[in-house]
Amino acid sequence: MNDARHVVDRLWPDPVAGLELDEALAGFELPSPPDGRPFVAINMVTSIDGRAQLKGTAEGLGSRADRRLMRLYRAAFDAVGSGVGTLRATDVWLRVGDDLAMQRRDAGREPNPIGVVIAGSGPIPTDASWFTGDERRILIVGANSPLQHAPEGTEVVRSPDDRPEPRWVLSTLAERGVRTLLLEGGPRLNAAFLAAEAIDEIYWSIGAHLLGTDALRMIAPIEGGSPYEGSPRPGRLVSVLRHDDELFLRYRFEAPTSISS
Ligand SMILES: NC(=O)c1ccc[n+]([C@@H]2O[C@H](COP(=O)([O-])OP(=O)(O)OC[C@H]3O[C@@H](n4cnc5c(N)ncnc54)[C@H](OP(=O)(O)O)[C@@H]3O)[C@@H](O)[C@H]2O)c1
Repeated sequence: MNDARHVVDRLWPDPVAGLELDEALAGFELPSPPDGRPFVAINMVTSIDGRAQLKGTAEGLGSRADRRLMRLYRAAFDAVGSGVGTLRATDVWLRVGDDLAMQRRDAGREPNPIGVVIAGSGPIPTDASWFTGDERRILIVGANSPLQHAPEGTEVVRSPDDRPEPRWVLSTLAERGVRTLLLEGGPRLNAAFLAAEAIDEIYWSIGAHLLGTDALRMIAPIEGGSPYEGSPRPGRLVSVLRHDDELFLRYRFEAPTSISS
C-alpha cells in the first residue's frame, strides 16, 4: 500500500491547495495516440538550473513525492522505457509498486507496464535487476550489439541500424500491442526522440536545488544539429503541481504540422 502522504497544491488549471498527490493525479488521462505510432511522453527530473544528473545519476534531484509521481505516471502507460546509458549508470526499476499494480490488475490491465530498454552497440549490463521480475520486458539492441544472450524472460529485438531509430522502435512496440510509451530518459535517447518528432508530452519535475555543474540536461544536444534552433518547438502547459519547493509540470506538444503560430 502507499502509506506515504504527499501534499501538493494544484496551481494550474483549477487551483486547489492541500491535495494528496494520488488524489491530484486521479483524473490523469492520456490523449489518443497520434496516427501511425504510439503516444510518447518523457518523464525527467532536473535541478533549478536544468541539470539531469547529480554525481552521475538522477538520485537526489527529486523528493519522495517525485518518486511517487513517477509511479503514478507509469501506471497510466502500456510500456515504460529507458536508454541503456541510464541502465549503465544506475539499476533502473521501471515498475509501479504493489498498490498501483493491484489497481491496474483490477482495471483488467497487466500489473506492470512492459519494461523497455533501448541499446545501441555498446555493452549491456545483463546483471541489472531490470532483467528480473514478472513483468514483460523488451530489450531493443542495435544491429552490431555484442549481446549474445539476454537473461530468460526478456525478449530481444535487433534493429536494422546501429542505433535503433525512434520511429522504428515505436512501430516495433506497436506490433507488440503498445499504444502508449513513457520514456524515462536519458538525455541522449530523449534527443533522438525529439529529432524524430516523437515526443507528445513532457513531465518535468524541478527539484529545488542549484548545481552549477556541466551535467547533462533533460535533452542532450541533437546529434548533427537541432532542427528547432531556428524554429523552437512550442509546448502547451497542461498542469502544474507544487510540493514544498518542487514543481511538477506537464507540457503537451502538438504535431508540428498542426501548429499555426
Ligand atoms: N534526471 C533524470 O530524470 C534522468 C533520467 C534518466 C537518466 N538520467 C541520467 O542520465 C544519464 C544517462 O543518460 P545518457 O543520455 O547518457 O544515456 P541514455 O539516453 O539512457 O542512453 C543512451 C544510449 O542509448 C542507446 N541508444 C539506442 N538508440 C539510440 C538512439 N536512437 N539515439 C541515441 N542513443 C541510442 C545508445 O547505446 P550504445 O551506447 O549501446 O550505442 C546510447 O549510448 C545517467 O547519468 C542517468 O542517471 C537522468
